Amino acid sequence: MGEILRIHGGYRLEGEVSVSGGKNAAAAIIPAAMLALGPCTVENLPDNEDSHVYMEMLRWLGAKVEMGKGVMHIDATTVDRCNPPAELASKMRASYYLVPVLLGLLGRAEVPMPGGCNIGARPIDQTIKGMTSLGAQVRQERGMIIAEAGELVGSDVYLDMPSVGATVNTMLTAVMARGNTVIYNAAKEPHVVDLANFLGSLGASVKGAGTDIIRIRGGRPLHGSSYAIIPDQIETGTLMIAAAATCGDVTITGAIPPHMEALSAKLLEMGVHISEDDDRIRVRANGKLRAVSVKTQAYPGFPTDLQQPMTALLSIASGTSVVNERIFESRFRYVDELLRMGADISMIDSRTAIVNGVEKLTGARITATDLRAGAAMVVAGLIADGVTDIDNFHYIQRGYENLDEKLRSLGAHVERIRVP
Ligand code: EPZ
Repeated sequence: MGEILRIHGGYRLEGEVSVSGGKNAAAAIIPAAMLALGPCTVENLPDNEDSHVYMEMLRWLGAKVEMGKGVMHIDATTVDRCNPPAELASKMRASYYLVPVLLGLLGRAEVPMPGGCNIGARPIDQTIKGMTSLGAQVRQERGMIIAEAGELVGSDVYLDMPSVGATVNTMLTAVMARGNTVIYNAAKEPHVVDLANFLGSLGASVKGAGTDIIRIRGGRPLHGSSYAIIPDQIETGTLMIAAAATCGDVTITGAIPPHMEALSAKLLEMGVHISEDDDRIRVRANGKLRAVSVKTQAYPGFPTDLQQPMTALLSIASGTSVVNERIFESRFRYVDELLRMGADISMIDSRTAIVNGVEKLTGARITATDLRAGAAMVVAGLIADGVTDIDNFHYIQRGYENLDEKLRSLGAHVERIRVP
């Protein structure tokens, strides 16, 4: 049995909704918690599929892990296995964050090549460069990443691009290495900063996260801590886009408005009203929205993870928008689904979409081709006339906690239906 998401479109979203903890922050912080020499409590944990997969994987490795509502308790002092099983590791991209962790704890890691969304090639050369610079021997063999190290020693690491994964993996290696590591051209995403703050709460010395240069003094013993994960930037953005798409009036609570600058600027340009408080963002739209051009970039640029829901919104904006994907090579697979709903989108190459705004979309049976494609399908379904059935709802559940419930609480007509 699987599940589809059925949306009766055309209802305006209205009211207040709170955002969950960050998926990609949790993805880095849960393995980082294994480095502590005592129990850690991770709060504001999103209840999504990735968190459950992590729990199973950590238990398999020998850690004691308990999960409650919005919280995970991790005691990894008993970890004695270095090889998480492929059927779990392949379910998510972040499983390769276990490589530096197991390397630091046990001197060896055998981790299956990471899974995650099918959005084009996702090389790991920068991660390998970071770890080898610090003294690890890393090789890829039989679909596995095999890493070994005697002693890890801090070093300068220059990343060719500000890769989130390589920055996280190098940080996790560096806190376990003797001496100083400097990461140049580091990723600046909010979840990288959150990981640095979490490592700081364990007693690590990590400075400069959120800038291009991160300095780590490694080799300190790390103690347990309690730490609350930041709110999810991409869930916040998805809800903002859904509010705008339905000409709604939605206040998103528990958010961090500065993380949303790139999206807010685009929505303002489209004619959406946005007001912000400390941790609240109110999004109001009425009437026709204007087309805009969007180019995805590393933070603080427009996030690639919001490109898909944004394109669904642009499909009904008045005029022609150009959407250019600069981060991943194949992140427009979902466009075919939007075309089935009546959107007018043409691809001029694999990274650039020309979106001619149409009056309306029409409900159809469509498929979520990956997590954020699923978010685009949801936005399209909320806008469309009639009924939209979205297959592969499990992709959406990978990254959004109770999205259907949250949308219902705002007045959307959304239901999950079990299908053979
Ligand atoms: C992280 O992926 C996120 N995943 C992605 O979120 C997000 O889209 C991406 O960062 C960009 O913000 C997690 O945090 C678990 P990268 P990651 O390394 O780390 C190239 C979602 O929907 N590159 O920053 O894999 C790479 O090909 C997911 O929540 C290399 O060439 O992204 C890409 O073009 C999807 N060599 C660019 O850098 C490398 O060694 C950025 O990738 C590493 C990356």
